[in-house]
Amino acid sequence: MSVQLTHNPSPGTAAAANSSSGASAPSGTGEATSVPGEAASVYGAVTNRRVTVTDIAKAKIAGERWPMLTAYDAMVAGVLDQAGIPVLLVGDSAAMVVLGHDSTLPIGMDELLMMTAAVVRGTQRALVVADMPFSSYQESPQQALRNATRFMKESGAQAVKLEGGQRVAPQIRALVEAGIPVMAHIGLTPQSVNTLGGYKVQGRGEAGHALLDDALAVQAAGAFAVVLEVVPHDLAERVTKELDIATVGIGAGKGTDAQVLVWQDLLGLTPGKAPKFVQPYADLRNIMVTAVSAWANDVVTGTYPDLDHSYS
Ligand code: KIV
Repeated sequence: MSVQLTHNPSPGTAAAANSSSGASAPSGTGEATSVPGEAASVYGAVTNRRVTVTDIAKAKIAGERWPMLTAYDAMVAGVLDQAGIPVLLVGDSAAMVVLGHDSTLPIGMDELLMMTAAVVRGTQRALVVADMPFSSYQESPQQALRNATRFMKESGAQAVKLEGGQRVAPQIRALVEAGIPVMAHIGLTPQSVNTLGGYKVQGRGEAGHALLDDALAVQAAGAFAVVLEVVPHDLAERVTKELDIATVGIGAGKGTDAQVLVWQDLLGLTPGKAPKFVQPYADLRNIMVTAVSAWANDVVTGTYPDLDHSYS
């Protein structure tokens, strides 16, 4: 299968033009053509249809790096889509950054289904991955299939993600056999924070062998990509070289095929001390506090609304 390749150095522009209707484009309808001499690219190239797992596989072969972000609602997902982010994850991190819990464990299927459907509605181009919440897949491959199927049918996600290595290989296999693309997630797996004893670096020293085994196990089970969370950078680089599928790093150094961040961390909205691996690219929290305070002050002083913002 070949893909539509129209290299766009400013990915936001074309995606923005496409999104003016506000309606979702049908998935998988892109023309199967390519521009001679241009490399396949999942960042900033595919603008007339959704990115697919086939594009991700081609990027691995081409040695292309790509960005992935979380999204939890239609508005922000639309912004990230406009910026050309090829893969959006509706992460169970929503439990913390949207719902205010102190871990990812409390969020359930209903909340994530609703958020995933919103992200799908708000995007035209991104591959949308739904995170399977704690207790939605650990029980058995059958339970995993039942819940992953709900994400595909009810929210329109194009893939699911679940945490764990060898121990969830039967679940991954069952989903892939049913036609559901799976992104695996190893290293620091936040749903296991209680057995890991906290949010700590994983895979140091001898534990690196087990992590590599986990990566090979999820690849053998059919995963199309694997998140490596908070692992030493040299281990992540080694895993990336050993695997034929894409590695997506978060706190795993620069040697992975892709990078993922929680969008609120990237844009400086999350309060408190950020983890070492986070480099904020904006200061949204201060921008919002300043703007809201200015408006509130104008309300209190009677400056807003003025006549220009009133009806006669
Ligand atoms: O839930 C999430 O946001 C995640 C990413 C950080 C990988 O799992």
